[in-house]
Amino acid sequence: MSELVTQLEELHTGALAALAQTQTTDETRAWHGDYLGRKGKLTTLLTGLGQLPREERPAVGKRANEIKLALEQALEERQAATAHDEMTAALSAEGIDVTLPGRRPLTGRYHPTTTAGREIVGIFQRMGFYVYDAPEVETDEMNFGLLNFAPGHPAREMQDTFFTTNPDVILRTHTSPGQIRAMREYAPEPIRVVLPGKCWRNEDVTARAEMMFYQVEGLAVGHNITFSDLKGVLLKFFNEMYGEGRKIRFRKSYFPFTEPSVEVDVDCVLCGGQGCRMCKYTGWLEIMGAGMVHPVVLQNGGYDPAVFSGWAFGMGIERQAILKRGIDDIRYFYDNDVRFLERVA
Ligand code: DAH
Repeated sequence: MSELVTQLEELHTGALAALAQTQTTDETRAWHGDYLGRKGKLTTLLTGLGQLPREERPAVGKRANEIKLALEQALEERQAATAHDEMTAALSAEGIDVTLPGRRPLTGRYHPTTTAGREIVGIFQRMGFYVYDAPEVETDEMNFGLLNFAPGHPAREMQDTFFTTNPDVILRTHTSPGQIRAMREYAPEPIRVVLPGKCWRNEDVTARAEMMFYQVEGLAVGHNITFSDLKGVLLKFFNEMYGEGRKIRFRKSYFPFTEPSVEVDVDCVLCGGQGCRMCKYTGWLEIMGAGMVHPVVLQNGGYDPAVFSGWAFGMGIERQAILKRGIDDIRYFYDNDVRFLERVA
């Protein structure tokens, strides 16, 4: 055996031992340089091949080749193993602990006015009313004139109405002008509509009054629409909204656009009519205005009052939420205090 073969075998053993020590991709790369690279130990050793007697060269060359292939193979395996170890280490270092409790994402929710408005509108939709969307910025004519407000009516005065720079264009003070728009769109077909939306009044803000608030208007016009239909529909509404067994009462009132006009009360949802702070010890809660549509208003809407009749009602949405959820101040609604908004959904 030539000296070179002994050296080759030693190198083989040594290289495998060194390879077994490598832990990282960098170390295996360095090992490759040390043994198999252009200036590596194996290459250097093989330059001695030319000095061997001719007849020894093929056997030694063959053995050298085997060792080279064996080392390359071993390197490949070691590289795969270190890469795997590195990945496992990285995964466990950066990994997610699935046993940790999650962080609850902050989700929004509906505003109490939205919830109450949808509830009200939903009840009427199930009774066959459809929703009519009317503008929040109105003409003085729509908001007052066509609703039969006399020219000097106090509601037109500066302290109640927000005007734009054009005095004929105002922020609507109630949803009732939508009645005219809905009638004009559908006359002479009979209609049943509800009109939810924002209203404004230039008033002092108190626990009971905001300058911006929401109403739902209702309107039914047809050939034989009666006051008892109004009563039946509203009783159904109150039973759906505040629970079965509700009592309602009508008190005579005045609105320019209805004749006769009424205020509608429901027996107190808190004390059931016994008398409490919420109903001011009367047993009744004032909920909405209503009445038979005034003939002049029907006419302005495009219906012949000799042939058609109708009724209408209007209620504040916040007021319903207040009664239903025992809120004692309307100012909470638009203060945007999340403690309120999160609690009263
Ligand atoms: N528009 C009235 C208000 O804002 C409420 C109202 C009363 C509406 C009687 C009606 C009605 O449709 O018939 O105070």
